[in-house]
Amino acid sequence: MTNSTVTTVTLKVNRFTPRPERAERARGGSPFARTRKSSPFGGSSAAPARRRPRGKQWVQEYTIPARPEDTVLDCLLTIKRTVDPTLAFRYSCGHGMCGSDAVAINGTPNLLCTATLKDWAKPSGSLPRTDDEGFRRIGDDAGTEEEASAEVSPDTACDGSLGVIELGPLPGFPVERDLIADIDPMLDQIRKLKPYLEADGVLATTHEGKVDVFEYLQHPDELARYEQLSNCIACGVCEGSCPVFAGGDAFIGPAALIWASRFVNDSRDTITMDRLDAIDTADGVAACQSVRACTRQCPRGIDVGEEMWQIVAKVRER
Ligand code: SF4
Ligand code: FES
Repeated sequence: MTNSTVTTVTLKVNRFTPRPERAERARGGSPFARTRKSSPFGGSSAAPARRRPRGKQWVQEYTIPARPEDTVLDCLLTIKRTVDPTLAFRYSCGHGMCGSDAVAINGTPNLLCTATLKDWAKPSGSLPRTDDEGFRRIGDDAGTEEEASAEVSPDTACDGSLGVIELGPLPGFPVERDLIADIDPMLDQIRKLKPYLEADGVLATTHEGKVDVFEYLQHPDELARYEQLSNCIACGVCEGSCPVFAGGDAFIGPAALIWASRFVNDSRDTITMDRLDAIDTADGVAACQSVRACTRQCPRGIDVGEEMWQIVAKVRER
């Protein structure tokens, strides 16, 4: 089969429609969060309880024409435009830069726009209970032992189709509708840790008394210490992979810690000790269990687990 061959793919989409009245219940707690030291930046204990909406849940199957090189986002757009306009999902840039389209693909958090059918479609009935690295598929509550032990082939299924892909909302976050998760908990945690540079500097002025350009000079070696971390697009894939973050407010999460680490490693920043204090809490680095599931699928190539290790060491050594 050539790359341009059109065949079919089946998407099994976990759908959700919230009740109109949005009868809600408080988000579940976690034993990791029983004692919590408040953060010097305004502790998370003051944050309002997150709630999960209730509503109707079902799995809907769509079989559409597709090519192996198509992305899962391509397929969802085809479904939205030609089959079912009620299907809800979120995306923006379409090429791995904005982080708005993280979902669970075959149980693994990933971006819709970079996941191709040839990488993710599996022969029908053969979705394994664990992913390629042996982690249990998130949200997996179905499948027989035979299915669990079935071999997974990257080739097309015997019926000529590319196979099946299961889609669900990003794990660890309240679902709003279909594949759209509420990622505000992650953004709140990132904001709480001051995701911006706090640097000393005297404003230069022009002869007219207006603010002039001034520079924060930095050596390339100093830039290298945080440059990779500054590529984080806050997609939430690492959070959705983390079994501790999935418990709710118990853990500020790997994404917030990546943002904290980005500024802790910046030689220009002047509040390093405050930043380390802010994450030295029961819901901060102390909640990280070093599972390292957060590293698996970071679309920006950040070794999140290793960074967690490094920031924990910095907190302990200060
Ligand atoms: S560290 Fe990677 S996986 Fe986590 S939010 Fe940032 S870009 Fe996404
Ligand atoms: S749509 Fe922007 S990262 Fe996928």
